Amino acid sequence: MVIKHEKIRSTKQAGKKNRPNSSVSKIPSPFAPKGKALFVGIDLGTSRASIAASNGVREVMPTYVGYPKDNISEELLGNKPLFGDAALKHRLSLELVRPLAHGVIQNNGKSGNNKYLTAAKQLVRYLLQKARPKPGQPVYGVIGAPARASIASKRILIDAASGILDAVMIVSEPFTVAYELGVLDQALVIDIGAGTVDLCRLHGTLPQNQDQITLDQAGDYVDDALSKIIRKKYPKAQFSINMVRKLKERHGFVSENSDRVKAKFPVDGRPREFDVTDELRKACKSIVPGMVSSIAKLIATYDPEFQQALRSNVILAGGGSQMVGLPELIEDAMDELGGGQVSRVDEPLFAGSNGALKMARRMPVHFWKVLT
Ligand SMILES: Nc1ncnc2c1ncn2[C@@H]1O[C@H](COP(=O)(O)OP(=O)(O)OP(=O)(O)O)[C@@H](O)[C@H]1O
Ligand SMILES: [Mg+2]
Repeated sequence: MVIKHEKIRSTKQAGKKNRPNSSVSKIPSPFAPKGKALFVGIDLGTSRASIAASNGVREVMPTYVGYPKDNISEELLGNKPLFGDAALKHRLSLELVRPLAHGVIQNNGKSGNNKYLTAAKQLVRYLLQKARPKPGQPVYGVIGAPARASIASKRILIDAASGILDAVMIVSEPFTVAYELGVLDQALVIDIGAGTVDLCRLHGTLPQNQDQITLDQAGDYVDDALSKIIRKKYPKAQFSINMVRKLKERHGFVSENSDRVKAKFPVDGRPREFDVTDELRKACKSIVPGMVSSIAKLIATYDPEFQQALRSNVILAGGGSQMVGLPELIEDAMDELGGGQVSRVDEPLFAGSNGALKMARRMPVHFWKVLT
């Protein structure tokens, strides 16, 4: 899903709006000053933000921004916002903001004063500083968004990029993964993130709405489910959602057989060990039925001649794809749909931003939105 450029800088160009080629020389094109622009791919995820730049820089950080709470925390940490791991490390002294939920920048309903948008902007700026553009160097960025993100949420992403990037493209996240892998035909990519699971079938063109499904039950949902199940079974155990997430990231699995998983949580201030194997399996599996029925839907509505090819090339990406036994479990479930083959990408951390960078380097000028 690509938003085409709409704003054209000069009135002279405005008259040529429908003739992309004629405006090429006027727009600050990535292709005009060849070699001068910095291209970046940004994956602004609900839990992790990453950037891949054409000068070789790669950075990834948790999607958190923290603001010192009072004079003492300012004295300790300075008066500037902290980002990523630094924000998490000092969270007790900070107002911690997680700008995204379900893959899109949150809106606190106050026009002109959206703290989530401000935090997202600061985070994108910070990521970009990490990419070290040269002074005055134009920066063109492709940003990933959930497959079925609304026009409004894409606008918010564009707002977050304005004043930071010179031109932007908003692209469906699973499509950036597919682009990185070079699988643009007869494949079904499933990006399992924190806020959303995004499914996208590829058939040699840009995906349309009917090729994509976004589910709201993803990694955050698993964390929440796991917290509830553990709290129910061990009401005295003290833990935070962060502790539960770490547990899942370390041991997450969906297979029937597994070593026992033990978690250490305090009870009345004293550490105790709890067996959480069955609870962890149950929570991790909770997002699988939604994925399987979406796979079924995307296959059933595909050209019948090519359904078999699609079925045989299901690719899992995103942090949630690392749950042990997931490809096998989905394959088993696909037996009922006539069988299937499921694989997992090698680099779930950077597949999205690498693909976004690859697109940034290659997309023709008329796909860009110029930010003024
Ligand atoms: N080994 C693991 N097992 C299970 N889940 C994991 C593992 N490692 C990371 N995760 C989960 O993957 C999710 C993060 O994945 P990813 O970085 O792809 O998401 P995101 O891009 O931030 O989110 P979204 O795409 O929804 O905006 C988190 O919910 C995280 O807890
Ligand atoms: Mg993501």
